Amino acid sequence: MLPLLVLCLCGPAQLIAKQTPLSTARRTVSISGNGGQMFREEGVWNYSTMLLREDLGVVILGAREAIFALDLSNISQKKDMIKWQVTREMQDKCSHKGKSSEIECQNYIRILHKMADGRMYVCGTNAFSPTCDYLSYTDGRLTLENKREDGKGKCPFDPFQRHTSELVDGVLFSATSINFLGSEPVVMRSSTETIRTDFKTSWLNEPNFIGMEHIAEGEQSPEGDDDKIYLFFSETAVEYDSYSKLEVSRVARVCKSDMGGQRTLQRKWTSFVKARLDCPVDDSSLPFLIQDVFRFCPGDWKTCVFYAVFTPQAYTSQSSAVCAYSIADIRQVISEGKFKTPVPVETSFVKWVMYSGDVPFPRPGACINNEARDKGFSQSLDLPDKTLQFIRDRPLMDQAVQPISEHPLLIKQGAAFTRIVVASTVALDGSTYQVMFIGTENGSVLKVVNYNGHTVIIEEVQMFQPTEPVKTLRLSNRTLYAGSEVAAAQMPLSSCGQYRSCLDCVLARDPYCGWNLPTKLCTAVSSVYQDPHSDVIQSLTDGDSTNCPPIESSKAVNLSFLPGNTVKLLCRPGSNLARVEWQVDSRSVISSDAYQINQDGLLILNASAEASGFYTCRSVESSNSQDYVTGIASYELRLASGQACQSEDATVLLPQAQTTQNTVVALQIMVVLLSIMLAALVIWNFYKGHFSILGRRCTQEQEAEGGQESVRTLELLRPADGKIQREGSTSNSNNNHNRRSEGKNTAQQIT
Ligand SMILES: *[C@@H]1O[C@H](CO)[C@@H](O)[C@H](O)[C@H]1NC(C)=O
Ligand SMILES: *[C@@H]1O[C@H](CO)[C@@H](O)[C@H](O)[C@H]1NC(C)=O
Ligand SMILES: *[C@@H]1O[C@H](CO)[C@@H](O)[C@H](O)[C@H]1NC(C)=O
Ligand SMILES: *[C@@H]1O[C@H](CO)[C@@H](O)[C@H](O)[C@H]1NC(C)=O
Ligand SMILES: *[C@@H]1O[C@H](CO)[C@@H](O)[C@H](O)[C@H]1NC(C)=O
Ligand SMILES: *[C@@H]1O[C@H](CO)[C@@H](O)[C@H](O)[C@H]1NC(C)=O
Repeated sequence: MLPLLVLCLCGPAQLIAKQTPLSTARRTVSISGNGGQMFREEGVWNYSTMLLREDLGVVILGAREAIFALDLSNISQKKDMIKWQVTREMQDKCSHKGKSSEIECQNYIRILHKMADGRMYVCGTNAFSPTCDYLSYTDGRLTLENKREDGKGKCPFDPFQRHTSELVDGVLFSATSINFLGSEPVVMRSSTETIRTDFKTSWLNEPNFIGMEHIAEGEQSPEGDDDKIYLFFSETAVEYDSYSKLEVSRVARVCKSDMGGQRTLQRKWTSFVKARLDCPVDDSSLPFLIQDVFRFCPGDWKTCVFYAVFTPQAYTSQSSAVCAYSIADIRQVISEGKFKTPVPVETSFVKWVMYSGDVPFPRPGACINNEARDKGFSQSLDLPDKTLQFIRDRPLMDQAVQPISEHPLLIKQGAAFTRIVVASTVALDGSTYQVMFIGTENGSVLKVVNYNGHTVIIEEVQMFQPTEPVKTLRLSNRTLYAGSEVAAAQMPLSSCGQYRSCLDCVLARDPYCGWNLPTKLCTAVSSVYQDPHSDVIQSLTDGDSTNCPPIESSKAVNLSFLPGNTVKLLCRPGSNLARVEWQVDSRSVISSDAYQINQDGLLILNASAEASGFYTCRSVESSNSQDYVTGIASYELRLASGQACQSEDATVLLPQAQTTQNTVVALQIMVVLLSIMLAALVIWNFYKGHFSILGRRCTQEQEAEGGQESVRTLELLRPADGKIQREGSTSNSNNNHNRRSEGKNTAQQIT
């Protein structure tokens, strides 16, 4: 028991292994490591509205006071840009009303929709005076038509307020605030017959609008039913008698061709019906709130599933969740369920309870269908007052919509989820998998797949600097695009090449990737799928890599050290789920005063002659109740003999002599030799502004008396091509510029 205890205290690697694997990303990568591209323009911010125009080969990006056309295949390449700035006059008017002229009184592009004629409909907040216009992209040029339509009720006044909209057959459906104060929410259809919500708290109560989706269910409906617009939002609940404001998530629905009522609900929706949307997370007493939704329809509308991300409403927990809802479940609650009704209790207090009286015909909130037409109701204007009054006063369903299989697909601690998109791909076995890409508050994107109820986080890609939330995600069939306040970025949906060994490739359980035995490469499955005889290994549901060829052990790196040195032996497993085990001369290394086992390697402190030996680092990853062991690195560590400088140079040169032949996980070797009392001289050197290359410094050291400090940092990274590259230090101590540049100098010296 005791050694175990000691191990657990020793470093992050052990802590990570102890977490439940399902809520930890298997690997963490940077966007550049994942083949990504970035776009940002000097002086422009808030890149949070994005429209993919695959037909034109561009990404249209709406920012603050500017719209960009970027190359769809390489977002870092700007094709064109136009400014849409607020006028001085508008800005003054806005700031006189108490808004900050530098921040709020600007034009934030908030709506971008493709129209049937190929143009785009674009709206901006325009210094708290929302305005819409028409945009086109032809011959590499963006053009704004300067039509300047009123955008009230379509686009928010306030750039910080959430809103949503959808253009359906040339008609804009929108959910936003319609007044300057942002206090009057509206769900609106802007056409010659403008229809909107009633301004009642039972309809919308301080809502936060999240998403809107058109479901073309009228197309071939045997019941002659209408298309629906589904709206997702959160709002203050009216139905709970709690002392504090309780918020809940909602799904609401309106019929596309709703014309409003004749006397009751004139120019108002006759079909606005909503239900609570639950995403039950066990340890939370307060409901989680919806933050984003994505419609995924593998076939006709009946197959549609809404994927949504949820976060806690009070800072009671740090977890986020993903829940998925089938259209059939939502439809059942709204079209067949019981209504809630308000009943006055005591003084002015109202309680909402299940309505169990008679429901009039046609059913309140239903679209006009064949049955209604047969009875003489051919449009909503024909609906009887009884039906209209009923739905006006009772727009809320009694039952809540539950997620598919009644629980979240994923619950994860850490940075809050902000956005979600879902792609689907055909794996080697011919089955189709949904791959979720989830944006976080921390600027990363998680790639997640659910295999028979087991959710696997394949990777976490850092798209933006940590602290810069992902504000938009868009998907094309190969690429993921993301927007934030500071930049836009793209990355491929998969980059199989980053998996260097069969074990790594197969244990990743990435449905896009498989290990190609003949070529010894992790390759995209789509390219081999056509060839049934290809020798490709993929094991998605089991993560079983027993069919991988045995691993050739890697050659040891020879190192020498001086007594008193701190030696760092680098070992980074390719997987966050792996546990790292160190051995010296076949004995286990246990954390102690002399050894410190870190996430990225082993630190030997104040090395003495006894530290010499043969060190090996293995990663052990459990999958399918089996442990897969990979040797990552081995080192032959010896006490330096003769001149320290020469032996240290030899240390540098040795890894270069090795050529690539192992198939082991990308072997990264970093050697850090620090003398014990490093800080003082580093800082002294720094202030002196004098950095010397290794050879010269070495001489200085030789001359220096005992007690003088010196620093030696050698960082070697060996990729598969066998060449030596160097990276900035990522070691645990207080890194600084000084040491970095020294590492570079050393590199130049040897190559
Ligand atoms: C725009 O971006 C800036 C810079 O990141 C940020 O401070 C600001 O909050 C953003 N504005 C809005 C409306 O999101
Ligand atoms: C994308 O464009 C940038 C320059 O704008 C270039 O450096 C980069 O290599 C390009 N990437 C690809 C994959 O074409
Ligand atoms: C966000 O990222 C930073 C740097 O990667 C990390 O230190 C921090 O813990 C992350 N925050 C959360 C909530 O995960
Ligand atoms: C991606 O979509 C484009 C058109 O949108 C199509 O030409 C291309 O073949 C698709 N690629 C794949 C891999 O499906
Ligand atoms: C390391 O040193 C040993 C002898 O101690 C030698 O046999 C081996 O080839 C050296 N390794 C490399 C990579 O040079
Ligand atoms: C380092 O080890 C030597 C001998 O092993 C010892 O005399 C010295 O005090 C140690 N230094 C530190 C800082 O622990």
